[in-house]
Amino acid sequence: MTRTYITLAQARALYADADSAHDFEHILRVTHMAKYLAQREGAAVEIVRAAALLHDIARHAEDHVDASLDHADVAARDAKELVLKNGATEAFGERVAEAIRSHRFRGTTQPQSLEAKILFDADKLDSIGAIGVARAYAICGLMNQKLYSEPKENKTATRHQHNAAHTPVDEYHVKLKHLRERFFTLTAKKIAKERDAFMRAFFEQLAREARGEL
Ligand SMILES: [Fe+2]
Ligand SMILES: [Fe+2]
Repeated sequence: MTRTYITLAQARALYADADSAHDFEHILRVTHMAKYLAQREGAAVEIVRAAALLHDIARHAEDHVDASLDHADVAARDAKELVLKNGATEAFGERVAEAIRSHRFRGTTQPQSLEAKILFDADKLDSIGAIGVARAYAICGLMNQKLYSEPKENKTATRHQHNAAHTPVDEYHVKLKHLRERFFTLTAKKIAKERDAFMRAFFEQLAREARGEL
């Protein structure tokens, strides 16, 4: 039997302060998806599981405490420390850390290992489709953003959508609609295709309704 080096209860406790777009429900969805992808793609399930459970433990700190932090770097370091404390080997800890370090869309570190690619894919699948729309609007409510804005052609991706001037429509145009090009594994690409089509239909309908066209 393979050992696990992080329990669900330990992980849950690390997300107590998270907002509803990045809470433990997000972590559970990503973990479930990551394990599924790992099984389909022949990756090391226990590495993927630990990385998924711990990948956003520093997200709250970056978003609400110190914006200069990179939550992927901080979480990679802390996650490694935690699994080592729970009895994992240095090699296991490093593989978990490597996956976490490269999970962000706007990051400069690209996923290299299959496990890192799977964490990236599972995390990004949770940013598109119906759940992606729901999460964008959770942040919209939190930051008191407008529900709709006209697409701005020259707007580029920045690290943060956590401000009142940003909208879910901006987020769709700078980030979410481009995610379908970014998946690594074949299994994730197939799931992404359907989720992307649903999300595109949502934002097209939203634009028509907001413009008074129907
Ligand atoms: Fe993240
Ligand atoms: Fe995440």
